[in-house]
Amino acid sequence: MSASNQNITSVLKETRVFPPAAAFASAAHVPSPAEADRLRAWAESDPDAFWAEQAKMLDWFKPWTQVLDWSNAPHAKWFVGAQLNVAHNCLDRHLTNGRADKPAIIWEGEPGDTRTLTYKQLHAEVSRFANALKGMGVGKGDRVTIYMPMVPEAAIAMLACARIGATHSVVFGGFSADAVADRNNDAKSKVIITADGGYRRGKVVPLKANVDAALEKSPSVEKCVVLNRCNSPVTMKPGRDIWWHDAVLSADADCPAEPLDSEHPLFILYTSGSTGKPKGVLHTTGGYLLGAALTHKWVFDIKENDVYWCTADVGWVTGHSYIVYGPLANGATTVMFEGAPNHPKEDRFWEIIEKYKVSVFYTAPTAIRAFIKWGDQWPKGHDLSSLRLLGSVGEPINPEAWMWYHEVIGGGRCPIVDTWWQTETGAIMIAPLPGATPTKPGSATKPLPGISAEVVDKQGNPVPANAGGFLVVKQPWPSMMRTIYGDDERYKATYWSNYPGIYFTADGARRDDDGYIWVMGRVDDVLNVSGHRLSTMEVESALVNHPKVAESAVVGRPDDLKGEAICCFVTLKQGHAPTDELKAELKAHVAKEIGALARPDDIRFSETLPKTRSGKIMRRLLRDIAAGKQSTQDTTTLEDYGVLAKLREDEE
Ligand code: WTA
Repeated sequence: MSASNQNITSVLKETRVFPPAAAFASAAHVPSPAEADRLRAWAESDPDAFWAEQAKMLDWFKPWTQVLDWSNAPHAKWFVGAQLNVAHNCLDRHLTNGRADKPAIIWEGEPGDTRTLTYKQLHAEVSRFANALKGMGVGKGDRVTIYMPMVPEAAIAMLACARIGATHSVVFGGFSADAVADRNNDAKSKVIITADGGYRRGKVVPLKANVDAALEKSPSVEKCVVLNRCNSPVTMKPGRDIWWHDAVLSADADCPAEPLDSEHPLFILYTSGSTGKPKGVLHTTGGYLLGAALTHKWVFDIKENDVYWCTADVGWVTGHSYIVYGPLANGATTVMFEGAPNHPKEDRFWEIIEKYKVSVFYTAPTAIRAFIKWGDQWPKGHDLSSLRLLGSVGEPINPEAWMWYHEVIGGGRCPIVDTWWQTETGAIMIAPLPGATPTKPGSATKPLPGISAEVVDKQGNPVPANAGGFLVVKQPWPSMMRTIYGDDERYKATYWSNYPGIYFTADGARRDDDGYIWVMGRVDDVLNVSGHRLSTMEVESALVNHPKVAESAVVGRPDDLKGEAICCFVTLKQGHAPTDELKAELKAHVAKEIGALARPDDIRFSETLPKTRSGKIMRRLLRDIAAGKQSTQDTTTLEDYGVLAKLREDEE
């Protein structure tokens, strides 16, 4: 959907302000508004010098000759000519700076098994697995799919790829076999790394069985490495499948980190866009790592003794940047948890915080809303006094949830960093600097130094304070995506065609009188369901794949827990009755085609779908119907006046 046919209004009116506490501020990396302003002004007046200075936080094998090459815009090159290695930065350099025996990863599995890997141990495991990959013929530039549960081996596999210059494509373990196959084929992956299964609320998710089905349709994949996580039965195909423990058995523990060009492709991560085909967002080495490391340091104010926990899954960008690359580049201790927040009981997160004395905690509004629903008794039953900072990501956080997080989890003393960013941006873009930025519940506050985010109208002019507009980024930044893998044209069309030379985020936002940004949500056909991105088209194509479905239109509707719920309008082929059984069947069908995260919340049958004269489905009307709102839209373009009434009759 183009930017022009949107009409955004914000209903938020929030006036509370929480300035940083003096003691927190004085010890923070960015300790004052004056320092934040100085950084912003510097980045604005001399971006090359600003980023060059920040890049000193990484270890480079070879220096750059140019900070930014934007001559082939919108394809950026950052730190041109420089060489480095991400795994070296995340591991090797910590072995000589006093962190060798510091816990790098503290892991807890869903059944309660635990493991701690020091930097030295993680380095050894990564090196050994990197050699195992080399032994399978994986080299620089080859693509490797990683489809794993939340176990340390997922991070080990990512870092092993980075070490040898293979490009990883992590696919979230909740995706279906078909989704895995699509991603294998788009990336032409040579190897896939998986596990027999992973635990989810006491059950085993059959990852290897999904991979077997996916590999029927993934001709590029030659080898499959299987971690034994659950001791569940799997079929191993001779010549193709190899156990992780066998692969590393004979592998040498010495694997020097490959010097890679700053623009070497580090990873592809598929995310949903406005069409049915997921986009392979490509991130490269130097700029991405700088973005992840710098924002992790500034926004979470990471200190040597912090125990940092991000509850995301490594299958999403948040897991890439803020479980693995950012924290490890900073030599931090990162907690990794395999299970669900309410298994075996609703206090699992609080138990983990108490047990490991977590000091910095990063989660999503959808989780916070679930905690609120489950009741204060769960967190109140645990000692959460180790916490000193809280983060939020994935969707706008409603002020009530923010206040609950602040009071019940943060004990009123922890700053909250509401972080706005995207798979495409690689790293946090808009967020408080917790020692410098007064926070307001519901606002991600201000763009970080070096990030020129603005709210503009459809012509690209800044909108007046408090008016809705489109969130854009005017200048390139190091961790920006470089392209859509294999599809430069789609990259340009999606992000750079609404406003020439300016990055279009597809989010609506407003700026208040203090210049604070309030992100309202997507203005395209992307749904945000429990903080997960899904395209309406993906769900629609899954539905029309079903033999009884003629046509479908999918829209989001507001949901107290998930943020957005998936509402599907379906017309059936002749001769099929609109029954409740069929509704259940269609829900299961979508879950099977895409993954459980895409299971529709509502299915509504209708004889026709409302369309404009030119044949476009009237999504706004459907959204209003889904939300139970009276439509305010002028309905004279409805091809069938009766449709609206019929749809309303079918209210669930
Ligand atoms: C939304 C997740 C408001 C937004 C890191 C964006 C947010 C999309 C916030 C990207 C936030 C993420 N406030 N909205 N703090 N964080 N979003 O690619 O709509 O999975 O465009 O990246 O999530 O989702 P993605």
